[in-house]
Amino acid sequence: MTERIHSFYEALTEDYHLIFEDWERTIERQAKVLGALLEAEAPAHPLKILDCACGIGTQSIGFAAMGHQVVASDLSRKAVNRAQREAQSRSLPISFRVSDMTSLREVPESGFDAVAAIDNALPHLSAVQLRQAVMAMASKLKPRGIFIASIRDYDQIMREKPTAQPPAFHGSQASRRIIHQIWDWIEDDRYVLHLYITTHSGRGWKTRHIVSEYRCLLRGELSSVLTDAGFAEVRWLMPAESGFYQPLVLARLSASV
Ligand SMILES: C[S@@+](CC[C@H](N)C(=O)[O-])C[C@H]1O[C@@H](n2cnc3c(N)ncnc32)[C@H](O)[C@@H]1O
Repeated sequence: MTERIHSFYEALTEDYHLIFEDWERTIERQAKVLGALLEAEAPAHPLKILDCACGIGTQSIGFAAMGHQVVASDLSRKAVNRAQREAQSRSLPISFRVSDMTSLREVPESGFDAVAAIDNALPHLSAVQLRQAVMAMASKLKPRGIFIASIRDYDQIMREKPTAQPPAFHGSQASRRIIHQIWDWIEDDRYVLHLYITTHSGRGWKTRHIVSEYRCLLRGELSSVLTDAGFAEVRWLMPAESGFYQPLVLARLSASV
């Protein structure tokens, strides 16, 4: 599965921002919610944060703009290269690495106040890989450091088994686009995601089709993986409570791990 995930994000990198109505505003909005949560949990400033599924930098850039000290890593070299470009163009001092979160071998730093994996990165992992990733993240945290992640609401998705995500229409006359997804269920808890990005230019409409794969990661599974890896105070914040668009999970590494 890792190869399919890798090629999906490599292919998506240059268009990734198009998925959002306004990527800049998304960066700011997410940093406001996530930054406030982390600052409430770990009162130091600046916080030392590892964003281990940084993609093109949606959260890393926001955290760094808040003055935090950020190391950002991702499986996709292309995504990391773009995130680096985006950080440089904003004069933000973020350190970047290409690293699989199941080992984080290429991240030499440790002693982080927080480690983050935001926007449904963890459901790309098998059950075994998820355990490896949570252990790797724990190894990067200081005692009582904070884990934060967001995933889709798979508890609900497993009940409903949707086969599509309705189209989102973004942009104005100059940069109109339509984003939609088809989900093909290949197992009870696994689906292939077809992402369609249809953009409008002077020459008419053009559609890109990119394919990825997800496993339905239930909140109970992630909670017990966290507990087994030495995390305590595992708590879920649903969108109505957090103001974030996906369920968020926070956990604190035990002092003795
Ligand atoms: C949906 S994107 C989110 C990216 C970023 N957090 C954001 O919100 O824009 C998920 C990211 O997880 C990364 N990813 C998936 N599997 C990974 C792995 N095993 N190790 C590190 N990154 C991984 C992908 O390359 C992708 O950039």
